[in-house]
Amino acid sequence: MLKPSKLGYVELAVKDIEGMEHYYSDVLGFTLMEVDGEGKRYFSSGLDHHNIVLTPTNESNLLSLGFQLDKDVLLNEAKKLLQQKGITAKLKSDAQPGVPEMLEMKDPDGFTVHLYTEMDTPAPRFKENGIVPNKLGHIALGSMDPLKTAAFYQDVLNFTFTDRIDERANFLTCNNDHHVMNVSNLGKLVGQSNLYHIAFELRDASHQYKSFDILAKNNIPIVWGPTRHTAGHNIAAYHHDPDGNLVELFIDMDQLIPGLGYFDPRPWHEDFPMKPRYWEDNAAWGTKYEKTLLDYAAKKFQKIGS
Ligand SMILES: [Fe+2]
Repeated sequence: MLKPSKLGYVELAVKDIEGMEHYYSDVLGFTLMEVDGEGKRYFSSGLDHHNIVLTPTNESNLLSLGFQLDKDVLLNEAKKLLQQKGITAKLKSDAQPGVPEMLEMKDPDGFTVHLYTEMDTPAPRFKENGIVPNKLGHIALGSMDPLKTAAFYQDVLNFTFTDRIDERANFLTCNNDHHVMNVSNLGKLVGQSNLYHIAFELRDASHQYKSFDILAKNNIPIVWGPTRHTAGHNIAAYHHDPDGNLVELFIDMDQLIPGLGYFDPRPWHEDFPMKPRYWEDNAAWGTKYEKTLLDYAAKKFQKIGS
């Protein structure tokens, strides 16, 4: 069965490459590992060769998602499994530094998906300065057809559907985290598939407060939160990066016990056991803000939310 172990990296098309390099190096505190001949910047959060790739372009958006498969999966076999599902995937060698081989395919929204088993682990360790998240936590896709895209990740890559807030957000995981991906209707709202937000996991509440101080010192306001989400129960706060992408910093995400079909119990849960379900709203504390998250994410596309 083809199922990723983790979301390994996200590649962003970037307009303000200097601003974004400063943001990832000095504000988020990732390590710049390499700049290739095309000016692509590869950043590591601490172990992998890269978890974020910034590609200089004229248009800012999501370029590709890299999912790491179990190390014993053979990519040739994976390619055959994809073919059986009607998916064409290209086997590529040395397409990225640190990744000897990958399969490349498209999801229903046209985003490029990379599947790989091996990535170099030069392990620059965690930086001392900046926010320094634990990891790249999840990616939120603005889809033209959220239910179709969510079904694709379930059927083709065996993601588990966790929670749903209508078309606004469909939550999927490939490991124990409540979601490593969510698929929303932002694409439909602005008329093109796009990045909704990118999210990084922090360690605890004090780390979150410290991260807000670091953002403030860099003149980056928090636009939404902190609040506890309903789906996933993560305490999240959102800001914009220099390219206008919405970025989430979170703690306390629900952990799925896959064999039991419920999340590890927490004092703040509404249900016992807490199973995947439908939610009316995305904020558990009743903290309503003037703008919705989708409006903030749509801002850079200038079609709604202005
Ligand atoms: Fe999120």
